[in-house]
Amino acid sequence: MSAQIIPVDPFDYVVFGGTGDLAERKLLPALYHRQVDGQIVDPTCIYGVSRAEMSDDDYRNFAHEALKQYIKEPLDDGEVARFLSKLHYVSIDAKSDRGWDVLKGLLDADSRKQRAYYLAVGPSLFGDIATGLQAHGLITPETRIVVEKPIGRDLDSAHALNDTLGEVFAENQIFRIDHYLGKETVQNLMALRFANALYEPLWNSAHIDHVQITVAESVGLENRADYYDKAGALRDMVQNHMLQLLCLVAMEPPSSMDADAVRDEKLKVLRSLEPIREGNVERMTVRGQYSSGASNGGPVKGYLEELEGGESNTETFVAIKAEIANWRWAGVPFYLRTGKRLAKRVSEIVVSFKPVPHSIFGPAAGRMIANQLVMRLQPDEGVKQWIMIKDPGPGGMRLRHVPLDMSFAEAFDVRNPDAYERLILDVIRGNQTLFMRRDEVEAAWTWVDPILKAWETTEQPVQQYTAGTWGPSASIALIERDGRTWHEG
Ligand code: BG6
Repeated sequence: MSAQIIPVDPFDYVVFGGTGDLAERKLLPALYHRQVDGQIVDPTCIYGVSRAEMSDDDYRNFAHEALKQYIKEPLDDGEVARFLSKLHYVSIDAKSDRGWDVLKGLLDADSRKQRAYYLAVGPSLFGDIATGLQAHGLITPETRIVVEKPIGRDLDSAHALNDTLGEVFAENQIFRIDHYLGKETVQNLMALRFANALYEPLWNSAHIDHVQITVAESVGLENRADYYDKAGALRDMVQNHMLQLLCLVAMEPPSSMDADAVRDEKLKVLRSLEPIREGNVERMTVRGQYSSGASNGGPVKGYLEELEGGESNTETFVAIKAEIANWRWAGVPFYLRTGKRLAKRVSEIVVSFKPVPHSIFGPAAGRMIANQLVMRLQPDEGVKQWIMIKDPGPGGMRLRHVPLDMSFAEAFDVRNPDAYERLILDVIRGNQTLFMRRDEVEAAWTWVDPILKAWETTEQPVQQYTAGTWGPSASIALIERDGRTWHEG
């Protein structure tokens, strides 16, 4: 079985930060894959932009190396040549007038094409680039701009950044990427909920006991100390990815997949989150930082050693008991946890249903375990619905907890696309459903800011955890206090 491919109209994609890490690891490989699958047609052009002086050929070599390094499947020489021929390079200094006119000359050569600017650069350059584009007449009414997180480091800075973009672009031109929304299982969550009659009647506090969302990583700082130490896990993962996942689990059914219909519902969830402040922060959150230990089969340094002697209180792990104060979810905790250098890389959403109200089976049948729906984002994407069945055989009635198991790799004979492949072309299609609207980003900060503030004022300690474990023991206590346990992924 394979997905139906619908080509998009020819476009010009301009990647600021064209020689950076994101372009190299994600954007160029994603565009190559979409070309191979027949979705990108001539005369599409992709422009790498950065400050460095470089020729088109140098850029093509850079891109070729990126494809070799980051694409797992064998490369097709003909496709590679075709892809590289679409690439061009322009040197622009975002803080001066240098280079803009060259870009304008290239883009104006065929101004009917859909145009998108991807800002794969730090947010401190968003303002300069947006105004540079405007000042040099590079924005048509159809132009779109794509921005990566972090969108601010608190509500005020997010507001300022959104204002800056808003001075130049209309909201329907701004595509704020959260790459978690491009992951297959995340989109499948919407399919499961809204394309099946089975779940929705049970999707509420009458039938669901609690929800767990885990995004565990085994990697550490990965040479991103400068950014990460100023951010920490709450800003880096919770404010965006984890809250977006929570929204998709908790939102009311939107009336359609129309971008604003979906985003309106997500916004309502964000605005219904119970605030966590000084008075309850110690009960509702745990923050941790890894010390040396073992990961991926070898010894690894602790966070402070990775920082090379720096002192830091930055959390590399966070667990939160979140509550949604609305009719559907009152009394159903959403336990969130994410961290670096955990026991393994696994991301999943676990929906735990309530136990049956009464058991007709005697003690010999064994323990009755409540149903769980486990949506695995990575690795090995898939969905498992855990149910109780009778142990096969002629003996007495004994019950067993087994999964109805849908592994996507086994069920579908298709390559699992990277999240960027979907998102990067949604920009060209003008589909904002999987992108964050301004008010969503700001509502997420409105909930996160008081937690950050409360951590400071209460001086809630950052608990150490050994690299390669599941985080500080306080995280286990956070959920066990409620008579529940973390799902073992
Ligand atoms: C990024 C964070 O947004 O997501 C990183 O900045 C994190 O710290 C990454 O490692 C995780 O993404 P994925 O797709 O590998 O789960």
